[in-house]
Amino acid sequence: MRYISNEEIQFTKGLEGVVSNSTQIGYVDGEAGKLYYRGYDVADLAEHSTYEETAYLLFYGKLPNQKELAAFSKKLASYRALPSDVLDRLVDMPCPCHPMSMLRTGVSLLECMDESCPIAEDLESKKEYGIRLIAQMATLTADIARHRENLPPIEPDPSLSHAANFLYMLNGKRGEPLAERVMDVALILHADHGMNASTFASMVVASTLSDLYSSVTAGIGSLKGPLHGGANERVIQMLKSLSSVEEAETFVERAISKKEKIMGFGHRVYKAYDPRAKIFQGYARELTELTGNDSLFAIARTIEKRVIEAYADKGILPNVDFYSGLIYHSLGIDGSIFTPIFAASRIAGWVARVIEYLEDNRLFRPRAIYQGPLDVPYVPIEERE
Ligand code: ACO
Repeated sequence: MRYISNEEIQFTKGLEGVVSNSTQIGYVDGEAGKLYYRGYDVADLAEHSTYEETAYLLFYGKLPNQKELAAFSKKLASYRALPSDVLDRLVDMPCPCHPMSMLRTGVSLLECMDESCPIAEDLESKKEYGIRLIAQMATLTADIARHRENLPPIEPDPSLSHAANFLYMLNGKRGEPLAERVMDVALILHADHGMNASTFASMVVASTLSDLYSSVTAGIGSLKGPLHGGANERVIQMLKSLSSVEEAETFVERAISKKEKIMGFGHRVYKAYDPRAKIFQGYARELTELTGNDSLFAIARTIEKRVIEAYADKGILPNVDFYSGLIYHSLGIDGSIFTPIFAASRIAGWVARVIEYLEDNRLFRPRAIYQGPLDVPYVPIEERE
């Protein structure tokens, strides 16, 4: 038996700081607390743009003109309906699994039940499938949410914008103008975010020349985890478990003293305030006030202030998931649907980056340090202890 000497090998746990590719799609400036899509500050997009326009920007590298946007929006709207079998099979699953698992399965079903979906896709057809998935993942998310409430699905309305139609399919009625705008902003803010875990997972799958649906299901699976997109659901669970500001103070003090992780804080890249959290905080304040959820907002602010006091010097500040849930909660959306909404937006970034990477593909294939033995003699089973 022998062991390898690994002394010379350097590696970074969790690939921290490792550069895996170059891109023109987006940039996270973690020191300045800025996020850019194709060079545009996400704060500007949140103020002036729409999800359709943002998705176009990510896909095609430029803001669309009126004609281009109208055509893109029309195409998205035309793709909203799901093949009827997909929903039937999805809701027929034997166990009530998490909506993210349903969404992941739904995307797989969309591929498996589509006879036209070839295994060897060219980049143009991948882009087309990507646009179709942007539309269909919103429908899937709304249908899954309604199924959990024992409500029938609502047919999409092609006359509505992506965000307005999503709220309509969730609730069976149009949202208030503020609700529709906030949903649009939420979708814009979640659309892309550098080489995060779910984007990387999608790209790793794509780099093997697997199909786009497999990349997207990998992205959904990765986003589900509580260290990534799944944190938004955990945050609302945490906030709802606290009945007053005093209880929030006790909770946060205890978590800090026990060095427990507090959901919705910290980020691998941001060492300044996450710009998305800043925007969400403003909307969360407005919406919680309007909907009588202001005590939840006060609880959130109490936790935020104390975490910043304790950890700001370590760069642990609110991330995108801390305030987004308060917004969805105020819109009447159940916590289990928060991460699917994230996925239904992030699909734009996943697909844009997958396609960009495939233009100059190289299989992702890192190595690991092997610390086990080599040349272990094989012992027949009857001679083993
Ligand atoms: N609460 C308290 N302490 C924290 C937190 C937190 N939320 N996040 C990090 N820390 C501390 C760690 O305990 C560790 O402390 P130590 O140096 O004393 O051991 C230090 O900060 C570094 O933490 P890591 O987890 O190693 O840092 P990493 O870069 O891997 O963290 C992560 C990024 C996973 C997001 C982390 O901050 C975390 O777990 N946050 C909570 C979950 C969450 O909100 N995830 C959503 C992220 S945004 C997104 O993906 C959409």
